[in-house]
Amino acid sequence: MQSFMLHRVVVVVVVVVVLLLVCMLQADAASGTRRILEEPKIRLKTEYPFGGRNSFANQELHVKADGGGGDEESEEEPGGTNSRPLIGILSQPTCGEKTRESERNWDSASSSSSSSSSSSNRSCIAASYVKFVESGGARAVPILYNEPEDSLIQKFAAINGILFPGGAASLKGGPFYQTAEKLFNMVIEANERGDYFPLYGVCLGFELLTILVSQNHSILERFDAEHRPAPLLFIGDWVKNHSIFQWVPQEVVDKLSEQSLAMENHQMGISPERWFSNKLLTDFFQVLTLTPDHNGKMYISTVMSPKYPVFGVQWHPEKNLFEWGDATIPHTADAVQLTQGISNYLISEARKSQHKPISNDQEHELMFYNYVPSYTNKDGQGLFEQEYWFDL
Ligand SMILES: *[C@@H]1O[C@H](CO)[C@@H](O)[C@H](O)[C@H]1NC(C)=O
Ligand SMILES: *[C@@H]1O[C@H](CO)[C@@H](O)[C@H](O)[C@H]1NC(C)=O
Ligand SMILES: *[C@@H]1O[C@H](CO)[C@@H](O)[C@H](O)[C@H]1NC(C)=O
Repeated sequence: MQSFMLHRVVVVVVVVVVLLLVCMLQADAASGTRRILEEPKIRLKTEYPFGGRNSFANQELHVKADGGGGDEESEEEPGGTNSRPLIGILSQPTCGEKTRESERNWDSASSSSSSSSSSSNRSCIAASYVKFVESGGARAVPILYNEPEDSLIQKFAAINGILFPGGAASLKGGPFYQTAEKLFNMVIEANERGDYFPLYGVCLGFELLTILVSQNHSILERFDAEHRPAPLLFIGDWVKNHSIFQWVPQEVVDKLSEQSLAMENHQMGISPERWFSNKLLTDFFQVLTLTPDHNGKMYISTVMSPKYPVFGVQWHPEKNLFEWGDATIPHTADAVQLTQGISNYLISEARKSQHKPISNDQEHELMFYNYVPSYTNKDGQGLFEQEYWFDL
């Protein structure tokens, strides 16, 4: 009887020791994974498919793994510590297809201020950007391009990131451009002070970032890249694991350069030749991907700043999940996972920002929930399935 008891005690002790060992091994593996994710310095490889000058060869990309301001808390979590992030989305004078050509009449010498939309106070945000932000675990806040400056400052203090959406606004000047410029400067100044704050530009938003950084309103060129998905050609393999693609499943990332999973819909863009001959752009941004247009002409399709949490895509992550009007938009499982990965990246950057509303009342006032979108593509004529319209 006694030896039976002893036997049981020995068995229990052995089981406990084995369990402890397994736990310790798992904890070590987890912290190893985290170390890889937070690797602060990445040495770039020169794997640039375009034959021209490679200004980023042998540079080091410093990816900020923490809150920028020596915020120790956020180093604990790769996805940031602020689990209630708010993303401001900038409105545009119009979402409409019909005004698109005239609004974006780049070749015309006439100034944008003559466009009809700038004389009204209405503005628009496509609902797909709101859903995109929400799908990453954030709530969205409209920022109206014609909002007074004190209101922009109050909103900026409450939100954790800004999205410049795609669309059809003039980038030559006028209130939309001026507001975007103010927000851009606020983002850079905040980050300079160690107040981590991400900014993300999509399509027209990418073009906007290109102009704001290069300070050249004529830097863009025409491309033939409307209504079609296209591949993303990575400038190096490191991009796949250490950039805005880091939350996209590896097997999907590996398909991006061969399959057309990134929805393109733009008339303007910038070629590698122009990009790499502009020192302001090459100093500010790292190029991550290139894409050929319908005629095989390459344009810069994804960029990210090594210095600030500012990144831009000349393609449409949000459309794969939330837009259906254009039959060429990919909605496969891979395409959807690409969107979700980019959204996860944006929101994980926003969780590193510690801005917050000053009160519950302000928080509720800011929310997109105060507005109702309309079903704008019911007749098949809309550019977006749903749109929010604002009257200032
Ligand atoms: C637009 O709003 C501004 C500021 O509230 C106002 O001064 C201006 O008259 C408005 N314009 C129109 C066309 O309603
Ligand atoms: C702006 O960019 C265009 C195209 O690269 C170039 O021809 C022009 O000289 C630039 N303007 C300035 C002021 O740098
Ligand atoms: C990226 O990470 C995956 C697994 O996490 C690994 O299989 C792959 O080799 C890595 N790629 C590069 C270029 O480091």
